[in-house]
Amino acid sequence: QLIPVILAGGKGERFWPLSRKHRPKQFLSLDGSGKSLLQTTADRLSQLAGGSANVWVITSAQLADGVKQQLPQLNNEHILAEPEGRDTAPAVAWATLEIARHYGEDAVVGFFPADHWIADQQAFQQTIEAATQLAATEAAIVTLGIAPDYPSTGYGYIEQGEPAGTFNNLPIYRVARFTEKPDRETAEKFLATGKFSWNGGMFIFRAGVVLAELNTYAADIINPLQQQGIDAYSKLPKISIDYALMEKTQLAYVLPTAFDWDDLGDWNALERLHKGEAANVELATHVGKDTQGAILYTSDQDEVIVTIGLEDVVVVRDGGVTLIVKKDRTQEIKQVLKTLQADS
Ligand code: GDD
Ligand code: MG
Repeated sequence: QLIPVILAGGKGERFWPLSRKHRPKQFLSLDGSGKSLLQTTADRLSQLAGGSANVWVITSAQLADGVKQQLPQLNNEHILAEPEGRDTAPAVAWATLEIARHYGEDAVVGFFPADHWIADQQAFQQTIEAATQLAATEAAIVTLGIAPDYPSTGYGYIEQGEPAGTFNNLPIYRVARFTEKPDRETAEKFLATGKFSWNGGMFIFRAGVVLAELNTYAADIINPLQQQGIDAYSKLPKISIDYALMEKTQLAYVLPTAFDWDDLGDWNALERLHKGEAANVELATHVGKDTQGAILYTSDQDEVIVTIGLEDVVVVRDGGVTLIVKKDRTQEIKQVLKTLQADS
């Protein structure tokens, strides 16, 4: 039995202006289902955990009310609100302490990002069950390995090591090396070896195993939390679990996945979700002449976007803001946001 925890405290800034401070990416519906990414994630995990009773969410205090509104079926006590976001290492540490307190240190816990697209529920479930079986018996931190398509610098890279056995009909391996967000050159080298996968950002382990590992590698996070509780939170180092633990632990395993997966990182993801034969991705009323490879979005469907002679651009209109950006420069939205005013 797995206790799933959804990591839902991120800002998703690269989906601005649709994502705003109080309406981050995980609250948006991007796949046309009418459900937000967070709701879809919770549904997927509820199925896995035999209902929503044991599903947990960790988010920032600022977003906690929004999470409760979006997931009314969840037990309110299972929604952990961080006083402020300190990235994923403190979030994983605190949630794991809470899980250990509620269910004991032998409970198998899984952390899942709130902003991923996974279509094949059955394959996902088979994979997580395999990871749960291994984590229940070994001192293991199981990661999911995604087959990489290009030398991305936005993911963690996992080098596959020795086979560790077959669980639920799926082979699992030791991790030889974990490298978070390498530079382009390193990513290219990794891909050329054929031994690396992307880290899927999901982690499955027994609570006690990770509490002990955090004691060894991230005492500056786990000790203050154990000694002072949540009051220690705002002074904790701001660091992700990938850097704080995964690059250091010797207990990492990788389960190569067989399902389609997408990290809905920025506007370009919409092209992958809504791809087809059309010249443009039109989530708007669009009149185009000689326009190709554009991604168009308006929150108000009565507005019309007219384009002439454009290629490979993103045009987004929402709440008084219009964003127009070249598709290959959407990563820079984050930088521009820093120079803008308050509720951007
Ligand atoms: N509770 C909480 N608090 N959640 C957070 C915080 C925080 O301070 N910061 C981020 N999150 C949530 C995000 O909402 C997201 O669901 C998840 O944690 C991962 O954070 P990201 O900021 O999206 O991480 P990333 O995409 O850069 O990198 C991670 O995921 C990649 C796969 O998508 C890493 O694990 C990479 O190694 C991995 O390849
Ligand atoms: Mg992400």
